[in-house]
Amino acid sequence: MRDAAAAAVRAGLQAPADPFEPVRPALDAVGAFIDRELSRQGVAFGEMGRHLLVGGKRLRPALVLLCGALCGADPEAMVPVAAACEIIHMATLVHDDLIDASETRRGVQAVHTKWGTAASVLLGDHLFATGFSVLAAYGDPAIVRLMSDVVSLTCAGEIDEQRAQWDLEGTEEAYFRRIHAKTGHFIAQCCRAGAMLARAPQAAIEALARYGAEVGTCFQLVDDLLDFTADERLLGKPTGSDLRAGVYTLPVVWALSSPGRDELRALLRQRPVDDGLVEAVAGLLRAGGALEHAAGSALAAARRAQDALCAVPANVHREHLYCLAEDLVHRVS
Ligand code: FPP
Ligand code: MG
Repeated sequence: MRDAAAAAVRAGLQAPADPFEPVRPALDAVGAFIDRELSRQGVAFGEMGRHLLVGGKRLRPALVLLCGALCGADPEAMVPVAAACEIIHMATLVHDDLIDASETRRGVQAVHTKWGTAASVLLGDHLFATGFSVLAAYGDPAIVRLMSDVVSLTCAGEIDEQRAQWDLEGTEEAYFRRIHAKTGHFIAQCCRAGAMLARAPQAAIEALARYGAEVGTCFQLVDDLLDFTADERLLGKPTGSDLRAGVYTLPVVWALSSPGRDELRALLRQRPVDDGLVEAVAGLLRAGGALEHAAGSALAAARRAQDALCAVPANVHREHLYCLAEDLVHRVS
């Protein structure tokens, strides 16, 4: 949607209180579906899975449902695919918290903190298997392939992030490639899956996948920004964790190629990376405009997501997707 058209859509829109409202009943059914699946393999997995399920944003299943419904599919019929996407996402979070040694997630103890390393590896594997078992039972091989590619690229993005740790020479291009691999692609393919389930024309499928990729980029940019700026209690996970792990996100990468870089380089070489150092780096990034630059990049990604929507039918679902992109820029948790 070019500027004039986008502005017209914006002008006619009241931001909905619930961006998922048109598919809310089906999204509730996704929650119930996941709950049932988690209980299938006994009490332990059920307890751990449910611990993780509470407080999730449900962005991925909501996008499957909204994109599918936008193209004419019945949301209720897509519940298993939407649920599988969330279950696979849950698997990645359990393993991610273990890799990151992150103590909290969604405001509660991370699975590995509460139940230990072995249990969290096994829960992640179990969730991963459950997601694919649900997809296999659904019986659409194209969707199974789509989601296996998602998992492979997510893992590749994660490996890439590990290899880039503590690297003071990283480029913005490499950063954007990484966040597409670990987050953007998954969200893009959730949108694609919804459109495919609706048997939408190829042009609409591609447009919605583009929307998802940009929304995913926006989501990760804001996630990385909140690591510097958020109130930890609202965020439900520790802040400053990227810096402590040597994961240099856009504000740092950008500032490392800006005029004040020498001071930043000196700070980033200090050890240990304690609270004082995290504060000092965040202060420098704020003063040098790096946080503002990253916020501007998130807004630009949201605008590109909204632009992609001009190629799909105008209906209530499109309006909600439009507003959702806006909401993601301004989220605080
Ligand atoms: C969160 O990012 C993590 C990811 C987007 C992907 C993690 C993926 C893996 C660990 C691969 C495992 C895959 C399977 C299928 C088991 P983040 O660490 O930047 O965000 P955070 O602040 O929420 O932790
Ligand atoms: Mg993490």
